[in-house]
Amino acid sequence: MSVPGSMMTCMTDNTALLSPAAYTEAVTTALAASAAYYGDGTTPLGDDEYDALLRAIAAYEEAHPDEALAESPTGKVAGGAVQGDVPHSVPMLSLDNVFDADELTEWAAGLERRLGRPVAGWCVEPKLDGLAVAARYRGGRLVQVLTRGDGLAGEDITHTADAVLGLPPVLTEPIDVELRGEVLLTTAQFEEANRIRLAHEATPFAHPRSGAAGTLRAKDRPYRIELTFFAYGAIGLDDLGHLALLERLAVLGANTAAGTAAAPMRHDTVEQVQERIDVIAGLRADLPFGIDGVVVKADTAEDQRQAGNGSRAPRWAVARKLAAEHKVTRLLAVEWNVGRTGIIAPRAVLEPVVIDGVTVTYATLHNPSDITRRGLMVGDQVFVYRAGDVIPRVEAPLVDQRTGAETPIVFPEACPRCGDAIDTSEQRWRCVRGRSCQAVASVIYAAGRDQLDIEGLGGTRAVQLVEAGLVKDIADLFTLTHEQLLGLERMGETSAGNLLTAIETARGAALNRVFCALGVRGTGRTMSRRIAAHFGSMAAIRAADADTLAGVDGIGTEKARVIAAELVELAPLLDKLQALEVGTQVTEPQQPAAAEGDDTEQPAGGPLTGEAVVVTGSMSGPLAALSRNEMNELVERAGGKASSSVSKRTTLLVAGEKAGSKRTKAEELSIRILTPEEFATLVADFLPGAE
Ligand code: IVH
Repeated sequence: MSVPGSMMTCMTDNTALLSPAAYTEAVTTALAASAAYYGDGTTPLGDDEYDALLRAIAAYEEAHPDEALAESPTGKVAGGAVQGDVPHSVPMLSLDNVFDADELTEWAAGLERRLGRPVAGWCVEPKLDGLAVAARYRGGRLVQVLTRGDGLAGEDITHTADAVLGLPPVLTEPIDVELRGEVLLTTAQFEEANRIRLAHEATPFAHPRSGAAGTLRAKDRPYRIELTFFAYGAIGLDDLGHLALLERLAVLGANTAAGTAAAPMRHDTVEQVQERIDVIAGLRADLPFGIDGVVVKADTAEDQRQAGNGSRAPRWAVARKLAAEHKVTRLLAVEWNVGRTGIIAPRAVLEPVVIDGVTVTYATLHNPSDITRRGLMVGDQVFVYRAGDVIPRVEAPLVDQRTGAETPIVFPEACPRCGDAIDTSEQRWRCVRGRSCQAVASVIYAAGRDQLDIEGLGGTRAVQLVEAGLVKDIADLFTLTHEQLLGLERMGETSAGNLLTAIETARGAALNRVFCALGVRGTGRTMSRRIAAHFGSMAAIRAADADTLAGVDGIGTEKARVIAAELVELAPLLDKLQALEVGTQVTEPQQPAAAEGDDTEQPAGGPLTGEAVVVTGSMSGPLAALSRNEMNELVERAGGKASSSVSKRTTLLVAGEKAGSKRTKAEELSIRILTPEEFATLVADFLPGAE
């Protein structure tokens, strides 16, 4: 397939087509992209780019109706790209799209105008990111499965049915019915599919939808990949409202989205619909399957019948599209970074790409063998995935987009940090020195002001201690003796005494600081405070598995997995610290787990109870000496919740000198703003040193 490269990179939401030639090129690009999308899923365009392209084409056709090309994808199911040979009993329609709350309100008002009365009730459900299929049952037995094709006729894919979970071979009742729904790879199935593909030396799927597309149409594969069906419609049960229909489908034995966190729900007003959309959008990263939007439907059969269908889409339903989580961009280079544990991790440097409002420039590349298996090359167009706060990752190259100018990725032959050998026996490469490769960096970090705050232990001292072989990890700091220190260059009696005193003080540091000092991946100061407050002791933190860790405010499932794995890896160091009674002397008052987004998690009592506080600018007056971390600790001691960015949930901004955009934003949102001095008065009882 050949797609003009310029189109792929320059098409954005705001691009207007300025000439007949640009219009023709856009139509060609869109046709090629949708043929690939509905074919084997190897699309060269991200979903956002495709939608933007279609909108530009539609805008051009509206302004120049005489020039509209017959093959234009506008107004056609599947962009007119695919055909099938088995006629559908009833056309399989697509959905019209809206892209924001205003467009949705306008669409709902249009439907109500058409009905001449309010809609009797709305149903809001996830827009599953897979492929539409029709499954025909005779006497309760599955007899045929079809793809959507061009909406009028589809391809027979009955042979794949036994690999599709949720699509029962026999229904619970012997009825004739045609189920309609979406087949997809859940996140777990996608991961499993790529494990299987790699084991068979097949290229991994770029993302779940292309994997589902390829799998549905594949024949004679030497391996089996499981898919999942979600029913959202049926021919033959037409007198039921939508929610009643979904219940009936579940009774018949089909899988539906009911029972998932994004379960279909009924709402009376468009405001409630918008709220539910926001909730589902917020849940998106944690759902066990991909969604590319939220579908809003008039619920009752009567409303649906009266509104009727257009040639491409029903008038009683609409898709509120969400920004794509996958985007296509170019892999510019690969960097190799040595982590604190000695792991040598490849990182992709990307041509910056905006994914769901965030500019992504770097993405993880798992490990060297993964790079090899995916066949990535520098210069490749790659699929990049980012959802919620998940670290962006490169999924796969678009092999058919290669120009020949791509170059192999060069793997390091020696540790990029210390030059010593690399242990390549595991999938993840590691410096043979392990943690001590990074010992200096770890010690400096651990001794920092916001961690153990060991005065006198800066960069030079840390290098001396590690090079003299006295310190291999942070636990070794606590066994240093006066004599050992005196043996170091430029270390006199006084400095040695001061350093030992500072280390002794650090032995009794609060749990959150000791935890932070470990440098667990995925945790910084804020997260360490939350974890310490949540669990109360190092023993409880160590006992936590990924599920328990995910109960901490701000830790998603992905991060929880990383932290749990880090804790396992850190076990020997944690044992050493425990034996030395570091971090065991001060336990933290445990706070009850708060629900996601719950701002009232702090125990009652402090003057900041119920407040969500952001600190910005430089502190002055009684707060002048406090670091940002110490300010956040103060906020939390006084019962508030500290956060680093201003949002509509923020209730108080402490703004010092040189407060910039956060102050402006807080003003816009009419959030209460205090000077550092005013704030100090408010929390006077909680200032360091106050009784
Ligand atoms: S209703 C006549 N509901 O999105 C009703 N479609 O972009 C048409 N889709 O063709 C479909 N989740 O493949 C409906 N909950 C849902 C859906 C859904 C995903 C797909 C479906 C449709 C496409 C339109």
